[in-house]
Amino acid sequence: MSMDWLSNELAEIKSKGLYRELRTIKTAQTPRIKKDGREYILLSSNNYLGLATHPEVKRSSIESIEKYGSGAGGSRLTTGNTDLYDSLEEKIADFKGTEDAIVFSSGYMANIGTISALMTNGDMILSDELNHASIIDGCRLSRADVKVFPHRDVTYIAKELRASKNNKKLIVTDGVFSMDGDIAPLPEIIEVAEKFDAIVMVDDAHATGILGEHCRGTGDYFNVEPDINMGTLSKALASSGGYIAGNSELIDYLRNISRSFIFSTALSPPDVAAASTAIDIIRKENPARKLWENIAIYKKGLIDAGFDIQSETQIIPLITGDTETTLKAALELDKLGIFVQGIRPPTVPEGKGRIRTTLMATHSRQDISEALIAIRKVKEKFNL
Ligand SMILES: Cc1ncc(COP(=O)(O)O)c(C=O)c1O
Repeated sequence: MSMDWLSNELAEIKSKGLYRELRTIKTAQTPRIKKDGREYILLSSNNYLGLATHPEVKRSSIESIEKYGSGAGGSRLTTGNTDLYDSLEEKIADFKGTEDAIVFSSGYMANIGTISALMTNGDMILSDELNHASIIDGCRLSRADVKVFPHRDVTYIAKELRASKNNKKLIVTDGVFSMDGDIAPLPEIIEVAEKFDAIVMVDDAHATGILGEHCRGTGDYFNVEPDINMGTLSKALASSGGYIAGNSELIDYLRNISRSFIFSTALSPPDVAAASTAIDIIRKENPARKLWENIAIYKKGLIDAGFDIQSETQIIPLITGDTETTLKAALELDKLGIFVQGIRPPTVPEGKGRIRTTLMATHSRQDISEALIAIRKVKEKFNL
């Protein structure tokens, strides 16, 4: 069969300025990285707490390879389960304050495998319009009626729930929104869910290890308990993998029904060990304290430069608007030695292009002030 259509499709993607290319970094996810022989300030990593290069995290990963080898060798329900996984799940449950937890091989797998296991024909899912793609795909897989609600609009949720004749009802939201850095109104969502007997699921990919008095995430921040706590091990927890924390029956059900858990090889031992040690460090040292100091300094610099900043967290988008300006602004920052990503549709809606900047606990004052100087120049040049 001819595959000519591929080159046509690719040409169309390129003509719209939406072509994506891999960029190759030759160092770890540290505040200063090397690319194409040049040094850059890394201002877009999800290694928010800097734990991916923490000596204890690296050591535990290496030791796990010495003991268990490099790969899991099977899915969790076949030969892939060792005491490493059991202890990580116990640790996550204890950290999140839930009865149990289940680990998946990525956050994406956790979302698609959980939503599709819990919801089906005749059920209703209410999903925030800015939710992550893995939530959207989980909703599609479930075959439930999906209602996408305007961003953080609890009145809309209540209206839909009141009118619903569906069997089960699920409200699903990012805790911290991945491209905007704002926080879901979880107390109001839980209140309305209780009134209409709906389940609440929160994706804490960007909140785990960072938000709340104990850095447990969005529930901890607001002092409320969602029914289903999803998170990833790939961001502040410096590894790979995803998890669901909740009551024992929920986790037991997912172990039995969730296809992305059952039919995928378990995470490799160094991933499991790294995440486990990262949780220990978060509980012992609270590295998020330094991250919040950096957020305050950076945000003040941006506001002083005239940016309108809506973010409440370490994810701080600089809105650029159309795709052309987004690409040009990202390229200019690259020239000035700042490693960032221009974010275009379909990741964000048309006309809402942005440079997604993120802070790390390991950024120094010097890193932040150099980044701000470059950003000011780009703001002036492109009238942002
Ligand atoms: C909100 C959100 N949920 C889920 C995921 C998926 O997590 P992972 O990268 O571990 O697959 C991400 C990360 O890209 C995310 O931003």
